[in-house]
Amino acid sequence: MTEPVLSADWDPQGQAAWDDPFGVWDRLRTQAPIAFSTAGRRGQGRFWSFLRFDDIITAARDTATFLNTGGSRFATRRPPLEADPPEHSVWRRLLMPYFGPLRMRALESASREFTSALLEPLLATGGGDATREFARPLPPQVLLTFLNQPPGDWQQVKSWCEDAYLQSATEPDLQARFEAANRGLWDYSQAVVADRKHHPRDATVDPVSGLLAARVEGVPLAHDLIAGVVRLFIAAGHDSTTSAVGIALHYLAAHPEDQQRLRADTSLLPSAIEEMLRLETPVLAMPRVVAHDTLVRGRPLREGDRVMLYWASGNRDPQVFQEPDQARLGRKPNQHLAFGYGIHKCIGAPLARLELRVALEEWLRRTREFGLAGDVTMEPWHRFGPRSLPIWIKTA
Ligand code: HEM
Repeated sequence: MTEPVLSADWDPQGQAAWDDPFGVWDRLRTQAPIAFSTAGRRGQGRFWSFLRFDDIITAARDTATFLNTGGSRFATRRPPLEADPPEHSVWRRLLMPYFGPLRMRALESASREFTSALLEPLLATGGGDATREFARPLPPQVLLTFLNQPPGDWQQVKSWCEDAYLQSATEPDLQARFEAANRGLWDYSQAVVADRKHHPRDATVDPVSGLLAARVEGVPLAHDLIAGVVRLFIAAGHDSTTSAVGIALHYLAAHPEDQQRLRADTSLLPSAIEEMLRLETPVLAMPRVVAHDTLVRGRPLREGDRVMLYWASGNRDPQVFQEPDQARLGRKPNQHLAFGYGIHKCIGAPLARLELRVALEEWLRRTREFGLAGDVTMEPWHRFGPRSLPIWIKTA
């Protein structure tokens, strides 16, 4: 039987999606909630975008149909993201303790120190680019501290991660930058594992030492997969937080009344942060691979097709959120999808929330007022958030 030819419902990388992503997703949620295209990340193959909240969570729960393995861009997998059940739960169980309350308390003081050190020059000069001078450096310094690596490595790690987004670039010099960054990140990750093999640290606070010491049914974990975990933390553990810090500062700079309300009562910050993450979701979407032929809302998904779960679109679904395009800083309930859903839900969410809260507490406490000092430039679609955020600050 010949396959029916499917026509594309949208182009995820087209100009319309770039100019007005929320408008495009609004239309698709009604007209083509399981939207077909051939223009995936690599511009080829069959590619489905899930746009409605309910479809996204159903797919995220159905780990037998929607796989996290099979689509890796790398020779070595990066667990727990690139692992399916039952293997996935082994990694999660071993890694969860590093995000427990005790560890978070220790990282809170480090976060506050990094925050102050970055904020002071901005206060002294009455403002600056809050992305370049604050949101960009803060999360990699915290992440490296979490990994017990020197925070001073942040510039190298950050610029490798930024170049790692050049994967789809066709120009030879950009491809070369991607190759160098990818190699740098893997070498760095492998070096951390080699170091802890020879110089184990306290396994209760050092995830790599803990993974090296772990035995699963008496067997040690493969060292290349442990390097994959480090590589994943380095990829997942600061870029999205950089976006989130930028998004939050942008929101507060553009909404002076909310800024004053939160300054007067910082206990409102945790729920305000959740609403900012819902409204402007830093990780727009994440991929899955279809395990076997299946129908979703009558659409024929084939084994090997790629799927994108659009957390950012689910977060604006009017079936779930009243007035979804409006910020309601105390919104309740607010079961947003910014950290994903199901077994792969962000393991680093406690650290991300902590960094955001501490950063905003310090910004609000140490300024009288801050606002936008010029045009804001946004990142390309897969890294939603301000690339440049000019801010003025009044302190006294
Ligand atoms: C505001 C900041 C952050 C956002 C918006 C975010 C978002 C996400 C999302 C949407 C997922 C789900 C992926 C999927 O289902 O395919 C995820 C998974 C993950 N995140 Fe985050 N993340 C953030 C910060 C962090 C931090 C700080 C870390 C590490 C310290 C981290 C580590 C991870 C890991 C390891 C996974 C994979 C979990 C698994 O597969 O079980 N993230 N994140």
